[in-house]
Amino acid sequence: MKAQLTRPELDALPSYLPSPIPLDSSGAPQAPDAARLALNELPFGPLPGVVEAVVAAAGDTNRYPDMAAVALRNALAHHHGVTSDRIVTGFGSVYLLELLLKAVCEPGQEFVFPWRSYEAYPVAAVGGHVRPVQVPCTDDFRQDLDAMSAAITADTRVVLICNPNNPTSTAVTRAELTKFIDSVPESVLVVLDEAYGDFVTDPDVPDGLVEYGHRRNVVVLRTMSKAWGLAGVRLGWLAAAPEVATAMRKLLAPFATSTFAEAAALAALEQEKEARRRVDFVTAERARMYPVLKALVPRTPVSHANFFWLPMAEPAAFAAHCKAGGVLIRDFPEAARVTVGTAAENDRFLEVAATAGTLLSAGTD
Ligand SMILES: Cc1ncc(COP(=O)(O)O)c(C=O)c1O
Repeated sequence: MKAQLTRPELDALPSYLPSPIPLDSSGAPQAPDAARLALNELPFGPLPGVVEAVVAAAGDTNRYPDMAAVALRNALAHHHGVTSDRIVTGFGSVYLLELLLKAVCEPGQEFVFPWRSYEAYPVAAVGGHVRPVQVPCTDDFRQDLDAMSAAITADTRVVLICNPNNPTSTAVTRAELTKFIDSVPESVLVVLDEAYGDFVTDPDVPDGLVEYGHRRNVVVLRTMSKAWGLAGVRLGWLAAAPEVATAMRKLLAPFATSTFAEAAALAALEQEKEARRRVDFVTAERARMYPVLKALVPRTPVSHANFFWLPMAEPAAFAAHCKAGGVLIRDFPEAARVTVGTAAENDRFLEVAATAGTLLSAGTD
């Protein structure tokens, strides 16, 4: 028998995530006109000033960027009313989650997170050499905070709440989250992944940074990939207690915030009003689409994010039907997920969905 050269845990992970955008063998999109509603991106182009800032930064590509990303950390700190010693930036918030696990966990300790939730969490657990503990969501696709609290053991170092949750679109309320965070031992870090927090309109759903960010064992994970329209430049950040942020910065990959990411993010932050206007458009479209989708797929939960979770018996067949109709969405074993796009893209999706017939019938779970 051949000796195993890599860690056995990797065998259980998918070896690649197929691109939801069909590509030809050269990597070019096969359906460039399709509505791209698969990855929860914003459908608009970059915010005003971002392209110019990136072009201007291109003149410096022979130089390394600022290792500590001081200008961006200061801007984020100013923008969010926290001190910059609490902020860590890097190429995407998932990278920062894995880094956090490495900074706080001894190998084999536990990382508790909800499931179904973001697919990158189990991968971060393997990368961080921790034991993943997945706590099933309730039948109505919500994170089960009592079960998550009960899952914490003496070996748990990090517990994560995704609010709103990707891919199920549900959110945890202030009352639930406060009770949960109060129940977590002070030695366990609570990570609030708020990648979709900008799309929350329900006043009962808290802003974790504002309401819990001052607590020593709370870490708030944010990204500029969604509401800020910067998915392509890769810029995530987190706010944590200064001692946690300092420990993480020691482990950061060198120059983890690129010249382009810093320039683009600084320019985007200047455009808060326009960013808010775009997010308001998305949430208005979400409100328009919900009753139509609820009539087609009755178990669709109320969405607090920029996508819908559509539980059905045949998600893969439904995704293929949508693709044939010029709309790219994501399918999971038990549901399809569709991003809110432009008004025209949403109309196209609703039209295609309306012709899906029995593909939309309820699953058995
Ligand atoms: C819940 C959640 N967290 C984090 C991310 C990743 O953000 P980033 O692009 O900063 O890695 C995503 C992206 O889809 C997400 O759904």
